[in-house]
Amino acid sequence: MELVPLGSAEEIAVVVADIVERAVRQRPAAVLGLATGSTPLPAYQELIRRHRAGTGPSWDEVTTFNLDEYVGLPAGHEQSYLATIRRELTDALGLDPARVHGPDPDEAGLPTAGERYEAAITAAGGVDLQILGIGTNGHLAFNEQGSSLASPTRIKTLTVQTRQDNARFFGSAREVPQHVLTQGIGTILRARHLVLIATGVGKADAVAAAVEGPVSASCPASVLQLHPHATVLVDGAAVGRLRRLDYYAEVYAAKPHWQAH
Ligand code: GLP
Repeated sequence: MELVPLGSAEEIAVVVADIVERAVRQRPAAVLGLATGSTPLPAYQELIRRHRAGTGPSWDEVTTFNLDEYVGLPAGHEQSYLATIRRELTDALGLDPARVHGPDPDEAGLPTAGERYEAAITAAGGVDLQILGIGTNGHLAFNEQGSSLASPTRIKTLTVQTRQDNARFFGSAREVPQHVLTQGIGTILRARHLVLIATGVGKADAVAAAVEGPVSASCPASVLQLHPHATVLVDGAAVGRLRRLDYYAEVYAAKPHWQAH
């Protein structure tokens, strides 16, 4: 795992945009795994800015898969993660909506929604690059504490903490759906490169548990320790509880110029 301590969310956005663009340039038909939530937004805005400036890669052949989706929102609800990713990123990059995927929250199909999503990811050739955030309790996508570390895409029940954390996108925690569909931890681990972004002091404990704690279902994000290519980008506020911060900074400063993230 590479832990990259950066000064600000803006600096992280530039590095993440570089990583995403490199993946798309290397493979124009790249399959990107996308996270919602507030953390990746500066990186998405940076990608859009570059696209509009004409310096970005072609997005025509790119396919995307969201990490997760709420269950029970009315069709077309603005807080559905599919609507969110289109609004915040893929529409502005000109991606055909048919290439932008999310788990299908339609009530009638819920028992098979997980299997169908896994099959769609497999049919696309698997995820090349997966963008991730982290919950304040260490959750990854919507895999709450106690999730199987081998889990596939399936339905989950949100914790009170996560519903409170996400209340800002709705009127109140009560309006945040209780059920969600989420890529499993096993699904996420199959992506070829994981890029986790954490910003703000509220993520400091979760980052320390994920990076320096034991690999455990009690901190789903700790599975990044099992992945052969995981990059964790943190700002100055999210590094506060890391014991080996000096070493990570030293490693980053001494990074060979030929070595990409
Ligand atoms: C949400 C999402 C996750 C996200 C996390 C952190 O509930 N399902 O994919 O990474 O919680 O969100 P934020 O970036 O808004 O802090």
